[in-house]
Amino acid sequence: MPATIIIGAQYGDEGKGKITDIFSEKADYVVRYQGGNNAGHTIVVDGKVYKLHLLPSGVVRGKRCLIGAGVVVDPRQLIKEIKQFNFEVDLGIDPRTHIILPYHNIIDILREKKIKKIKGASIGTTAKGIGPCYEDEKSRIGIRFFDLVSNKNLEDVIIEKFEEKKKVIEEVYGGSLDININDVAKEYAEIGKLLKKYLCDVSSEIFSSLKKGKNILFEGAQGTLLDIKYGNYPKVTSSHPLAGSILVDIGLPPSVFKEFEFKIIGVVKAYTTKVGSGPVVTCLDKGRWPVDEKVSNKIANYIRKKGAEYGTTTGRPRRVGWLDLVLLKYSDKLNNYDELALTKLDVLSGIKILKIAVAYKHNGKEEKEYRAWDLEFLENCKPVYKKIKGFRKFRANNYNEIPKNAKKYIGLIEEYIGKKIKIISIGPERNDIIYKE
Ligand code: IMP
Repeated sequence: MPATIIIGAQYGDEGKGKITDIFSEKADYVVRYQGGNNAGHTIVVDGKVYKLHLLPSGVVRGKRCLIGAGVVVDPRQLIKEIKQFNFEVDLGIDPRTHIILPYHNIIDILREKKIKKIKGASIGTTAKGIGPCYEDEKSRIGIRFFDLVSNKNLEDVIIEKFEEKKKVIEEVYGGSLDININDVAKEYAEIGKLLKKYLCDVSSEIFSSLKKGKNILFEGAQGTLLDIKYGNYPKVTSSHPLAGSILVDIGLPPSVFKEFEFKIIGVVKAYTTKVGSGPVVTCLDKGRWPVDEKVSNKIANYIRKKGAEYGTTTGRPRRVGWLDLVLLKYSDKLNNYDELALTKLDVLSGIKILKIAVAYKHNGKEEKEYRAWDLEFLENCKPVYKKIKGFRKFRANNYNEIPKNAKKYIGLIEEYIGKKIKIISIGPERNDIIYKE
């Protein structure tokens, strides 16, 4: 299989890291194409813990890892992650990738505060400066990886940008930029020298590798419903976590989908979670944010604790809800998954009755289309559930050993979406995986 794209089918945090880890074993290349260090997962190998937010997860297996033009890179974070390894990481970063500077983080935080003050609820960003960095890219005032490593007037350019952002921070947001600009400019110039060796035309390298029949794994970050355009705008991230975006975010011609074999895998968590604000139709936390453990639903708390549903990047508790097939169908429409991987099925064990949303009720009318763009509509939708008897805690070595009710749960998803679930994750360990044909 020359290329596999791993996509988060819901709101991110579907457990993509584990699925990516499985596929990366056979991959020649593991590639990030969007987002930045707002993503994150932990990989444990032989007792050593690696925390990754930016580096493609294949780095742990010593694979060639590429960061494409659609990613935003925080160079300080990158250096930190590289230093975790006691071997030389095989890394390439596209010159067109944009760079996060400290003022992006500050603006991210101040803007969130302002939105919260005016509207009562902010987006709930990860405060990593992702939005402000993409914003500079689109305004054509950003600094790219190429600018960072070629070091032409870099310090002057950074100082000039800081002056402009200082005004925005102070005058627009009433904040302060308590940073020594000259020190930061020098630090970035030094980092640029260190990172120069990673400069790589990722677009060309991937295209020629596809031609050579190499196995390439595209590691999506976040999830489909966080897409800047097709998610629940404005409660979204600032990139395109969709499968189709690899064309522009890496720089590949549309013909690659005809010329080479691609497999698109939708990673679906057995229930719904969302970190940050925005509508979650099947929410069991009564729409509260931040989650108040005392008032939130018992089942939500059970799932949150058992599934460790706390943000990897921020530590925030995630809101929890039942699986939503209306949402999943929309996600499938956008990505046209070849197959699905179901994660965290084990977390649902011990719950007497499980529910899956198969439609919504809005003003008494049944709705089956997910209107991602209409947040008011979604907030006023009531889920129509199919109930399934729960299953007990189990161990299984193959699909036949999975409890009958768990199979029914899987069958309902397959039937409604019309796609096969081929991988089922039943525990946190690498080998807690069931393959189903
Ligand atoms: P940002 O990407 O930091 O700007 O945050 C925008 C929205 O996307 C917020 O609701 C975040 O909680 C959410 N988000 C960003 N990255 C992730 C992720 O990796 N998993 C889940 N949610 C995320």
